[in-house]
Parts: sequence; C-alpha cells; structure tokens
Amino acid sequence: MRAVDCIIKKRNGEKLTEENINELVRGYVTGKIPDYQISAFLMAIFFQGLDFEETWMLTNAMISSGKRFDFNEISGIKVDKHSTGGVGDKVSLLLAPIAAACGCTIPMMSGRGLGHTGGTLDKLESLPGYRVFLKEEEVHSILAADGFVMMGQTEDFVPADKLMYALRDVTGTVESIPLIASSIMSKKIAEGSNALVLDLKCGSGAFMKNIHDAKKLAEYIVGTAKTAGLKIKVVISDMERPLGRTIGNYNEVLESAAALRGNADKRLAELTYRLAGWMILLSEKAASLEEAIGMAENAVASGAAFKLFLQNIEHQGADVDYILNPKTLYTYTKNVCAEKSGYITKMNSYNVGVASVYIGCGRRTKEDSIDHYAGIEVLKNVGDKVTVGEPIFTLCYNNGDVQTACELLQSAIEISDDKPKDSEIIFEEI
Ligand code: URA
Repeated sequence: MRAVDCIIKKRNGEKLTEENINELVRGYVTGKIPDYQISAFLMAIFFQGLDFEETWMLTNAMISSGKRFDFNEISGIKVDKHSTGGVGDKVSLLLAPIAAACGCTIPMMSGRGLGHTGGTLDKLESLPGYRVFLKEEEVHSILAADGFVMMGQTEDFVPADKLMYALRDVTGTVESIPLIASSIMSKKIAEGSNALVLDLKCGSGAFMKNIHDAKKLAEYIVGTAKTAGLKIKVVISDMERPLGRTIGNYNEVLESAAALRGNADKRLAELTYRLAGWMILLSEKAASLEEAIGMAENAVASGAAFKLFLQNIEHQGADVDYILNPKTLYTYTKNVCAEKSGYITKMNSYNVGVASVYIGCGRRTKEDSIDHYAGIEVLKNVGDKVTVGEPIFTLCYNNGDVQTACELLQSAIEISDDKPKDSEIIFEEI
C-alpha cells in the first residue's frame, strides 16, 4: 500500500494493519518516505487515535528500527524509571543511586529537556566532562561497577522514535496518548530492562493536564508493557506546581546532591522514596513496599546512595569537586516578589518552566544550546505564607529575556487570604 493510502486510512478512522505500520516506519527511517507524509500520518493518529493493538504494532516497529541492548550477563531483574516530563523534576538523579544502593540494577536511558520540561541528560551534562553517550563496553562496565548507568539515546537506538519525536515536537503532535505510549515503551523495551516504574506527571507543567488523560495514558502504557512481558508500575504524580526548590540544570544536580545527603524538600522526598520503593519491589529485593521504602530511606541515611552518586560521576567522566564544592557560574540574580500578603494557593508550573527557558535553561529550537548554570530558585511554594515584597523566586542567569521570565513567574502565582488544603503529591498508582 502507498504511504498516502495508509494516511487516508487512518485519517478516515480505520484500523491499520501490522504491514501498514511496518512499511511506514521502515520507509521513514530509510529515507523513502518524506517528513511531510509522516507529519500527516502523525496528525491523523493525533485526531483518530490508535487502539491497543495498533499501539503495540507501532511500538514493535519502532523497536525493530534499531539496535537493542542486552544485559543478560548481569543476573537478575534490570529495572528502569521514566518520567513523562515535568518542571523541577530531578527525581531520576536521586532514584538511580538510591535503588542501586539497595541492590537494583538500573540501565537508565534518559532524554533531554523538551519544551518547558527539563531533561536528565542536560542536568548531568552541567557537570563538565560527564559523558552520557558511552561505548557499549563502558555501559556494561559502569552498570556492573555502580549498579546504574546514565545513558542518552544514540543514533542507532530506536531511530524511528528519535526521528518521529523531532517531527512531533514541531508539528503539534506531542500530546497524543498512543504516540507517547509507543515512544516511551519502544525505548524502555529496547534498552533491555525487565521492569519499569513510570512517573506519569499530571497537571499544568505536564503533557497530561488532567487525571482522565493521565489514566488513559497509563492504561496504554500498562497494556504495552504487559504485551512485551515487562513488569510495570505507573505512579501518577502532581505536576501542577514545580517539584523541589530549583529549576534548571546544575542547580538541580546540586539540589539532588543535597537530597541524597538527607536535605530534601518534603514532596520531593516523598515521591522519590515511593518510586524507589516500587523499583526495589519490582526488582524482588524486598518482600513488601513498606520494607522497600525503608531500604531506600536507609540508603540515604547511611550515605550509601550519595557515595554511589559520586562514584558514578567519576566513572562517567566528571569531577566530583563540582558537587563537593559548588560553583557559582551565573552573573546576575533577580528576585520575583509577592505582590500582596497571604498564602500561595497556586503556582502554575507550565509558566515557571517556560520562564526557565527564557533565561537559557531549556531550548526554544532544537538547535539551541542551553545555559547549564542559569536557573530559578523556588523560595516559596503552594501553601506557604508570604508578605508583600517577600521574594518567591530568585532568577540566577547570565543572559536571556529576564523581563519576560519575571512576568511569567509573576503570572504563575496566585495569593489568597485563605490557606489552601494540602494536596497529595501522588494521585494514583496503577
Ligand atoms: N517522553 C517520551 O519519551 N516520549 C514522548 O512522546 C513523551 C515523553
């Protein structure tokens, strides 16, 4: 069937066959089908959707487009964690050493910042010399030595996702449930893990803005994981407000280091220990979730997780001095202050994320370079009391459109006389 016939078929809401999907994906990766036809195909999926079977077929076609990792030389379960993307989300930096300190094996494949959301690879690369693109033998040796390895997606690893993701980013087709499910799951299955904990973010700063969509995405992801024989737990967590005390890259690494030494923001700690608990349980290193969470807390309290964090930084090429003796690598600071007194009832994390992009923490186009040392400190968050003129955010920057960033931050905040009810960080577990 010609590419255009497959596009028309999906546009008209008909079900695609495995052959249709394979031909389109293979044709695109080999350069036989142009960007404009795949863009139209993605848009047809965006509006018409894919059922579970089609989503699995697309996932499989994407896996087959490149190489797969195999960690069979390391016995036991290989577990990974993935986040659908958020603002101030540094949880992966904490989870990998914590779970490794509890005996888990974690080949962690992470991404770069996307739109207003941050990316683990960008954060790690704020440590000069840290290498996320490793030779295959290095991946294996670091995983064996540290219990975890932090990797980026190389050209030959699920290339169909790499190409389609870049197209989706510029064609308004990111927020499609079957496309997100197949994008995430193709990478997770190909990286050689047997178990996955997915932190599915929900709220203004996430791709899933409401619980209904978040649950639907969870259903697709769980369905795909089960078909692939992957053990999975999905945790739907709050991304209505930013997570933790910093947004940026180097500043988030420093916040993670502090958290691994026991000084963590309360909500960040709660989410981290819960996700770590599920990783430990799926890896069969504990008999219950409670025991697993206790092990994770102990890994921080004993210093074991922080030790592994530093060890991995050295193994992946960076200098731990950037952690042990934090540097100030920005020139200017500017506070954004409360315009009235009261309680912060809302902090729109989408606006905060976009503000961080304006001072260089993220990319506005795919080709942009980022400023790893710019960032936002979140001094007050939802539920905190402020008096007029009190700083809520501090921008730390070298250049960028600071005026727009300040306006966005100001517009992100709502202040009221009444203290808001405490909201849970975890909405649901599936
Ligand atoms: N993360 C991914 O890897 N893919 C998506 O489509 C969205 C978030």
